Amino acid sequence: MSVIVLAAGRGTRMKSRTPKVLHSVLGKSMLDHVLDVVSDLHPHEVIVVTDPESAPVVASHTDARVTIQALPLGTADAAAVGVEALSSRAGAVLVLNGDVPLLSLPSLTRLIHEHDRVRATVTLGAFRAPAGTKYGRLDRRDGRIRGVVEAADDRADRSVEFEANGGVYCFDLAWLRENVGAVRVSPSGEYYITALIAAAARLTPDSGEHAVAAVMLDEAELLGVDDRARLAQAEAILRQRVIERHMARGVTVVDPARTVIEPDVRIEPDVRIEPGCFVRGNSSIGAGTVVGPYAVIDDSVVGSDCTVVQSYLDGATVGERVRIGPFARLRPGTVIECDVMLGNFVETKATTIGSGSHVHHVSYLGDARLGSNVNIGAGTITCNYDGHAKHPTVIGNDVFIGCDTMLVAPVEVGDGARTGAGAVVTRSVAAGATVVGIPAREMAQKPREEHGR
Ligand code: UD1
Ligand code: MG
Repeated sequence: MSVIVLAAGRGTRMKSRTPKVLHSVLGKSMLDHVLDVVSDLHPHEVIVVTDPESAPVVASHTDARVTIQALPLGTADAAAVGVEALSSRAGAVLVLNGDVPLLSLPSLTRLIHEHDRVRATVTLGAFRAPAGTKYGRLDRRDGRIRGVVEAADDRADRSVEFEANGGVYCFDLAWLRENVGAVRVSPSGEYYITALIAAAARLTPDSGEHAVAAVMLDEAELLGVDDRARLAQAEAILRQRVIERHMARGVTVVDPARTVIEPDVRIEPDVRIEPGCFVRGNSSIGAGTVVGPYAVIDDSVVGSDCTVVQSYLDGATVGERVRIGPFARLRPGTVIECDVMLGNFVETKATTIGSGSHVHHVSYLGDARLGSNVNIGAGTITCNYDGHAKHPTVIGNDVFIGCDTMLVAPVEVGDGARTGAGAVVTRSVAAGATVVGIPAREMAQKPREEHGR
């Protein structure tokens, strides 16, 4: 099986600087959605047809072979460019519009099976389109498809729903090679791939097999995204689809309409997602964790039995039974071990926090490594940047950092040490020591009380 994806042009109705098929639907470009479903078919070759201007960015986006349609002359011209680039000569070829991002693998498989079963010249994906939409209308007479009438050229009444062309086709490749170049320009001045449907229909003998076949698919799968309204519609449909998949597996999503979960996110059963949450990218959430209300989790791993309230996690790794928020910001490289509490305007970056530690109030920890059972007092700052370079702060186990401590990196605080409120720690602190002041100095040992004189 070979595949051609038609992906040229900005799509005039998108009114965008970005190539149409690179607009994102739930965190992934339309083209990636199409290529993902295609790759599940393990095709022998995949060609993406794009325009000269979009080519570099499309090429940087995909492993598939990219070929250029010099001028936007229409979908038949784009298909001709794609066919030219194919090394296969025979068999079946899928031709897919790049703006149909919701097509699923089972539907694509049905299309291919039907094509093989009927031994059609071309099989297309069709659906019931709502009244007034601009899809190509199937011209069906006596039950047989005779062609596709594009909206621009259609004189039929479109005020009722109609049978539409979904823009996904399975062609006999040898036939396509022969005929794609012969498509005549339409009244509106474009070369339509849909003209090939009429050409194939003419092959059908009155009594014989059908050269044109169609499979009826779900409208939601064949949504063609030509403008921003459709883009939002595609996003809403996919969002619902992803959330339903998680709910079926035992995840509570309190308000699906106010929750965004991207397709690649993994969530274990018995997670509860409160309203207003975004879980995106390559994130995962362990069983029993409660997320939200109002949390954003990007490319992060959150363990089981945690709570994440009104916080922003980006590139963080969080262990089990951790309480985060409200109002924490965990930036990339943050690693939180188990049983940690962290919240109330705390920011972390490239920092590891050992198990059982608490960071409760208005602190910044950057390029730091904290041991276990550390208490970070309110207002503590790691001064990790000296204007030129970033420096590390290392804090041992069982350390008590007093409120408003400045840790001027590079600096180390040994196990069991303490800092007084307002200390500015410029030199490393020995294990067990207590330092106070600006700059922080070790407190003198109290003279031992002498008794029995
Ligand atoms: C197309 C179909 C229509 C169908 C609808 C389904 C044609 C003529 N019409 O209309 O019957 O109902 O899809 O969504 O095909 N493209 C190129 N080069 C071009 C023009 C388009 O590569 O010169 C690509 C676009 O990037 C797009 C795809 O082909 O991904 C379809 O083009 P588009 O302009 O969106 O066609 P529709 O008007 O949606
Ligand atoms: Mg379209």
